[in-house]
Amino acid sequence: MRRGILLAAAATALVGVLAGLARVGVTTAALSHAPSHGPLLVLGLFGTVISIERAVALAHPLAYAAPALLAASAGAMLGGLRGAGWLAVAGAGALVGVNAAVVRRQRAPFTWMMLGGALVLTAGAAAWALGRPVAELAPAWMTFFVLTIVAERLELSRLAPTPRWASRALVAVASLVGAASVALAGGVGGAARPLGLGLATLGVWQLRFDLARRTARLPGLPRYSAIGVLAGAGWLTVTGAAWAYWGAPPPAGPRYDALLHGVFVGYVLAMVMAHAPIILPAVARVEVPYHPALWAGPLVLHAGLVVRLVGDAAGDVTVRRAGSIANAAALLVFVAGVVAARALSRARRRGA
Ligand code: HEM
Repeated sequence: MRRGILLAAAATALVGVLAGLARVGVTTAALSHAPSHGPLLVLGLFGTVISIERAVALAHPLAYAAPALLAASAGAMLGGLRGAGWLAVAGAGALVGVNAAVVRRQRAPFTWMMLGGALVLTAGAAAWALGRPVAELAPAWMTFFVLTIVAERLELSRLAPTPRWASRALVAVASLVGAASVALAGGVGGAARPLGLGLATLGVWQLRFDLARRTARLPGLPRYSAIGVLAGAGWLTVTGAAWAYWGAPPPAGPRYDALLHGVFVGYVLAMVMAHAPIILPAVARVEVPYHPALWAGPLVLHAGLVVRLVGDAAGDVTVRRAGSIANAAALLVFVAGVVAARALSRARRRGA
């Protein structure tokens, strides 16, 4: 079942990214899915993958209901069927159940934050199923990612515990971000500035307290992951500050693009690439040994995002399009880097 869900997630990734490119006029492939670009990537791809990871952590067969329902929601979107929204609500709700079971086993700030993230995802999915505009609920989706990722980092940092006041402050800010994004999904536009302030604070928190600050000094995979985490936290800080300054963006256009993808690409995709050597063995049973080829994907990703945001700021559609193409290409470059890293390390082992 896990393999089937992963194959569905890969198909969703392809159509979701092509749909994003269709929205900047690069391709007409997947044009009909352009309106679903956000839901496909957030719920159908990353919601599914994160749920598989949580199911692996809980090690209970029922926990796979969450990724199965989210993948089914993506299938409904791709097939143009009705009910995708409610399938997503059911999948996100199942993820709440999984995270609640994890909290029952272990009460810790990071398990509570993951539960909070799943609740916010469910609120966003419900708002989507009820027909509210994606622009209003996209912050809830952003928050789901940010809370989940910060919590995962906190869990990894168990060996280098953070001061108690810092953990408490983190939970308080995460609660503010969660409440602000649910308010936005309910149409309270004034919540955008507190949301931004909270996101920027979480970014600064990671830059200051994340284990990555120490592991960045170690060679190989630890440094690769750590630099990726710190770069992602940098984008979160800057984009959060931009939300705090501007408030809610108009529901389309350059500012919308920048305020969304500073987090979705700069934080989420960067973190996925940084953690691939941990996620892929757990989720897909694919080992990722260290090789310098791994750096290529993140480099193209971050450079592409800078170009994209320069295009957004200058109102230059061509520059924005070039950066968007680089963001999409970074995913292919990253996959090629992982394949190369695996092949080269296998060859080295055989030669040794
Ligand atoms: C990798 C390349 C990507 C490209 C080329 C791309 C492109 C776009 C474009 C052009 C828009 C419309 C912005 C506007 O109105 O001007 C958009 C919206 C959006 N994107 Fe992306 N995107 C990408 C990645 C992502 C990722 C990784 C996520 C989430 C994890 C994401 C989530 C969203 C969401 C939620 C929206 C709002 C959708 C709506 O209002 O209907 N995007 N994207």
